[in-house]
Amino acid sequence: MAATETAVDGIAKTFPLTEECHHYTRRQDVEFDIQKYWGQRYSIWSLYDEGICMTDDAWFGVTPEPIANKVAEDFGGLVSPSKSVLIDMFAGAGGNVIAFALSERWSTIIAIEKNPSVIACAQHNATIYGVADQITWINDDSFSYMSAYSSSIDPSKTVIFASPPWGGPGYRYDEIFNLQTMEPYSHKQIHEACRGMDSALFLPRTSDLRQIAKLTPEGKKIEVVQYCMEGASKALVAYIPASI
Ligand SMILES: C[S@@+](CC[C@H](N)C(=O)[O-])C[C@H]1O[C@@H](n2cnc3c(N)ncnc32)[C@H](O)[C@@H]1O
Repeated sequence: MAATETAVDGIAKTFPLTEECHHYTRRQDVEFDIQKYWGQRYSIWSLYDEGICMTDDAWFGVTPEPIANKVAEDFGGLVSPSKSVLIDMFAGAGGNVIAFALSERWSTIIAIEKNPSVIACAQHNATIYGVADQITWINDDSFSYMSAYSSSIDPSKTVIFASPPWGGPGYRYDEIFNLQTMEPYSHKQIHEACRGMDSALFLPRTSDLRQIAKLTPEGKKIEVVQYCMEGASKALVAYIPASI
């Protein structure tokens, strides 16, 4: 777990691209089920042609750049200026964490991603956007990392961004998405990991608002924002204050 040491000893670690990391330039090279996303590549990455790399699975979960930039602006403005450390629990191919770095709002950004090929793409993509060196890259399970390093995470300075996988029954088809059956992690499991810290959960647009409301700390409020492109919501973000 050499990458984990990065956060502790400050030594930057580079994750090499693997054969699962692709920069597709021709439709015929792209698997059928991701052709739709590849067709939107310039809405997702304005610098796609500079050599953006993705694993095939990462196309399904990446946050498009305009939305990632807006989320970064909103989260940075919502939390107290005393918060200077941001942890992205599920960094993926870097859509959000690159936007957080570009916002120049945070003195420390920690990107955690458990898949070595995906973190390699994220780091490579962050290099294209000129921000790779501003991010500490951790190739680990975010729950284990946060629990192992809980004593060095200062909740008074740290916020958590979480864009988990949206697996499980019905994300695309249910009128109301049940966050309790979201796989592999329910909203409660993620919230539990962030409990003492302000957090932003990036969730399906149809997420059950009653389930989100139940996370509200006593005497505080949760803000829920729908993020839209071309007139349609792509996702909602629940901005959840820390519970004491
Ligand atoms: C929806 S994607 C994140 C997309 C990212 N926000 C972006 O814009 O590129 C979720 C990512 O979480 C990773 N992941 C899932 N479980 C994890 C865990 N326990 N710890 C760290 N990463 C995890 C997956 O490998 C996947 O890349």
